[in-house]
Amino acid sequence: MAKPPSLRTQTYPSGIASVGLGTIARQVSPEEPPPLPPNGELAVIGKSFPRPNGRAKVTGAVRFTVDIALPGMLFARVLRSPLPHAVVRSIDLEAAARQPGVRAVLPVANSKDPRGARVLYIGAPVAAVAANSIPAAEAALHLIRVDYDALPFVVDMNRARDANAPLVHSLDTAPPGHPSGFPAAANLPLNGNVRGPAIAKRGDVAQGFAQADVIAEADYSTEVQTHCCLEPHAIVADWRSDGLTVYMSTQFTAGVRHELAEEFNLPLSKVRVVVDAMGGGFGSKSSLGNYGRIAVELSRQAKAPVKLFLEREEEQMDAGNRPGTWQRLRIGAKRDGTLTAISLESYGTAGVTVGAGVGNNAEALYACPNFQGAQHDVFINAGPGCAMRAPGNTPGGFGLEQTIDELAEKLAIDPLVLRDRIDPSPVRREERRIGAERIGWQRRHAPGADSGSVKRGLGVAQSLWGANVQTNASCEVRIMRDGSVEVLSSVQDIGTGITTVLAQTVAEVLGLRPDQITVRIGDTEYPPGGPSYGSRTTASVTPPARTAAWRVQQQLFAEAALALNAGIEQLVMRDRNIVVRDDPARRIAFRDAATRLRTDRISAVASRSDDYAGFRRRMPDAALAQQDLGGVQFAEVAVDTETGIVRVERVVAVQDCGRPMNPRQIESQVHGGVLMGLSYALFENRILDQATGRMVNPNLEQYKVAGPRETPQIDVIVLENYQGQSATDAYGIAEPANIATAPAIANAIYNAIGIRMRALPITPAKVLAALGRVPLRS
Ligand code: MOS
Repeated sequence: MAKPPSLRTQTYPSGIASVGLGTIARQVSPEEPPPLPPNGELAVIGKSFPRPNGRAKVTGAVRFTVDIALPGMLFARVLRSPLPHAVVRSIDLEAAARQPGVRAVLPVANSKDPRGARVLYIGAPVAAVAANSIPAAEAALHLIRVDYDALPFVVDMNRARDANAPLVHSLDTAPPGHPSGFPAAANLPLNGNVRGPAIAKRGDVAQGFAQADVIAEADYSTEVQTHCCLEPHAIVADWRSDGLTVYMSTQFTAGVRHELAEEFNLPLSKVRVVVDAMGGGFGSKSSLGNYGRIAVELSRQAKAPVKLFLEREEEQMDAGNRPGTWQRLRIGAKRDGTLTAISLESYGTAGVTVGAGVGNNAEALYACPNFQGAQHDVFINAGPGCAMRAPGNTPGGFGLEQTIDELAEKLAIDPLVLRDRIDPSPVRREERRIGAERIGWQRRHAPGADSGSVKRGLGVAQSLWGANVQTNASCEVRIMRDGSVEVLSSVQDIGTGITTVLAQTVAEVLGLRPDQITVRIGDTEYPPGGPSYGSRTTASVTPPARTAAWRVQQQLFAEAALALNAGIEQLVMRDRNIVVRDDPARRIAFRDAATRLRTDRISAVASRSDDYAGFRRRMPDAALAQQDLGGVQFAEVAVDTETGIVRVERVVAVQDCGRPMNPRQIESQVHGGVLMGLSYALFENRILDQATGRMVNPNLEQYKVAGPRETPQIDVIVLENYQGQSATDAYGIAEPANIATAPAIANAIYNAIGIRMRALPITPAKVLAALGRVPLRS
């Protein structure tokens, strides 16, 4: 096929660095910069640089949203439903409105429907107040009178599936279905509280199982994991007659701007969203949220800025969570390990909403001609779930990777050897090889082989995540007359370090140090930067940052070319000088070239191009798996068979993210993914009281999250995996690093004690019950 005349051929580095690099030809627009060599040939990209605001963060000097104080600012508090299911007959706000200091009161659970509004879970917002102090706002909440008619409720997923269970939604209020954990499959059937199934299918599983020599089959369950961002959800809304400014801890400034414009019927040009430092999001801060709407409406009514931040209890009940799931997996194989069929059935609950699927790893991670998945959402009267670090794939991986290990045992094949046979990805093959060597896989003994009361074991698990990209993502790069440089984008740094990576990207192009680049982000006044979810930030904004830097450099080179009496194409950057390539004595300092500019500032804007090899779908099928993000993790555990306590001693995480931009920051991200996965495996559990519907542990004392005492040694190894897909070839790391940890730990526990732990969290009580030491009480 003839290529369009506007494209040109460029040759990019390609392959896995530790295996051996080659090249790949791509047809790209002449607007794209020249290919970037592998990290080994670069000055700045691929090296570890500290975060510019790292010191300010640990000394408390940075400004989080809760630190923002505007003149005349009010404080909002939210009255929340004490009942898991009720009709709100009436809300009397008069006494609260008369309270001194109160400036606005707002019914939230209001309805034009004469049957009254319903609240569907404990913690659902009912009303809100803005006052001139937090105590005044809280005092006013106590004066709000709400008349409820309690309705029957259900907070247990299995009970909710019963034909005679109380209905959470009526047919017309149920949210459309996307039970796969990803937006898809609207218009699924609703039966009682069950939405689905969402069917995914290839080949014929019945035929596949008939061809199998061995079948592994088991059920797995996972519990709700709440978002425990260190920084709570927070917003300061400033509604003025000339426009709305919102300071918000958000994963998506540009997206919140769109939501606000639509919600409050404002032109986009009158809405500004700003975020400075952030203490995590993990999927729970991706959109405006009910608390965001409340704060803006209160500001509009009070004609004053309003600050609203959630208390930890509100975070636990109403700030999103990873849905609980149940899944049944069945995998068939021939004697040599060749897979013949995989079937998956799942039920999950995201409380009053949808999105409780177990993802696509069962469908896409391994080569298997026959697959059938049937996933369901079950509604219960509990706070809504939302995306959380590798939604779907993390609970899905817990079941899949244990079932693969079980299959390996039935086939009497080492779990790594089996994966070498059934996993088409050359990237994960290399990751298994490196990780096995690092953990010392040859030490792995038969299940339960240790003789003492403390038994050790080794386990492995792996994962797949999409190399996601957002093309609606732009950067501007400016050079000032004094040689200073700015990079601007509305993209937000949610704690993952995109600030540093943007500085590195621009510095590499301009031959400067990262600390010479001023990074201005987290503000919709700058070019739209795309969201920080789906592990897509680096993949989306570093290519346009490099492209914009390259384009503005061409403008500077035009000035330098005049001074040096050379052609633009002869010029290169070298040690903060612009140099004639073949005659390096002819040079002009970067700063001196800037001084010659006609205007005080030159600038270029670029947006994310499509991937050079054609744009990729968000989640791949198995044939594309090798182009996506992998990750293999090994765990070493010690199980005390007297106490049931599992201690994770070591995790080796081998991950890939295309071109690694900043190894230290990547390591930090992988540490986070592993710790969150360890915490999910052993501790975290939202416990709802069946009698009252109340969460009994809405705090960080009884809701246990892994801390320093539980932190294992974590070895992080990151592959350089070049694919020639963009101006930087960089991809995400946050979510892929979270998926394999829990199943690697569970597989290690099996190797230690010879018993499969199929339900999360793997508590001492469950371990002792599994060992037959004590009966398990539910
Ligand atoms: Mo993530 S769950 O896409 O922030």
